Amino acid sequence: MPHLHINVDHIATVRQARKTHEPDPVYAAMLAEQAGAQGITMHLREDRRHIQDRDIRLMRQMGQTPLNLEMAVTDEMVQFALEVLPPLICLVPEKREEVTTEGGLEVAGNFVAVQRAVSVLQAAGMEVSLFIGPVYEQIKAAAETGAKAIELHTGEYAHAQTAQERRTQLDRLSQGVQWGLEGGLKVNAGHGLTYFNIGPVAALKGLSELNIGHSVISRSLYVGIPQAVKEMLTLIEKHSQG
Ligand code: PXP
Repeated sequence: MPHLHINVDHIATVRQARKTHEPDPVYAAMLAEQAGAQGITMHLREDRRHIQDRDIRLMRQMGQTPLNLEMAVTDEMVQFALEVLPPLICLVPEKREEVTTEGGLEVAGNFVAVQRAVSVLQAAGMEVSLFIGPVYEQIKAAAETGAKAIELHTGEYAHAQTAQERRTQLDRLSQGVQWGLEGGLKVNAGHGLTYFNIGPVAALKGLSELNIGHSVISRSLYVGIPQAVKEMLTLIEKHSQG
C-alpha cells in the first residue's frame, strides 16, 4: 500500500493571511502523524508565501515521520536543505505568478543544474525525487541524474473533464510508474488528488508515496485533521493492491 504523506502548506496559507502564529502547520502535521499519516510534506517557496523557514526547522525537531521538503532548484534552497537535512527532498519547478505548482520539472532541458542539485543533496544523505509528468524523456532523464525517486504529477488526471480523458491520463500514469520502476526509481505521485479521484491512483501497482494536501486540509475544516487523514488512509487501503 502506498504511504500517505500529508502536505500542510495550506495550513500555513491561512496563517500567512494574517501573518500571525495560527494556525500552525507544525501542529497540524503532528495531528496528521498521530492519525496515521506516514510522512509530512512542506513546500518552502522562494517567496515564502506559506511555509516559513521556521516551520521546516521545527518540523525536523518535532516530526515522527519522514519530512519531505519540496523546493526549487536554486542555490539558496540547496543551502537551506544542507543545513536542515530533511530525509526527503522533492525538486519542483517554481513560478512566482502561479497559485500552486503547475507543471512538472523540465529535467531533460535543465539537466546540468538538476543533476548538480541531486548529487549535492544525495551526497549529504537526503533522498531526492523529481516532480515530473509521466513522460518517457523526463523519466529517463530523471534516472540519469542519479535521483533515487520521481513523483509523477497527477494534475492532468485530476483535472480531466471527461471519463475518457481521465482513463487516458490514468493510463499515462500507469505507464509512467512502469518506466520509473524499470529505471530503478522509487515512484511517488501527487497533485490534485481528492477523496473522489484517489481510488484508481491508489490502485496503481508500484507506487511508494502519495502526496496529498488541499483536499485533506479542506475536509479537515469540517471533520478535523485526524478524521480527514483517516478517511483518506481508508480509501487508499481499500483501493490499493497491497
Ligand atoms: N506534490 C507536489 C510536488 C506539489 O507541489 C503539491 C502541491 O503543493 C502536491 C503534491 C499536493 O497537491 P495538492 O495540494 O493538490 O494535494
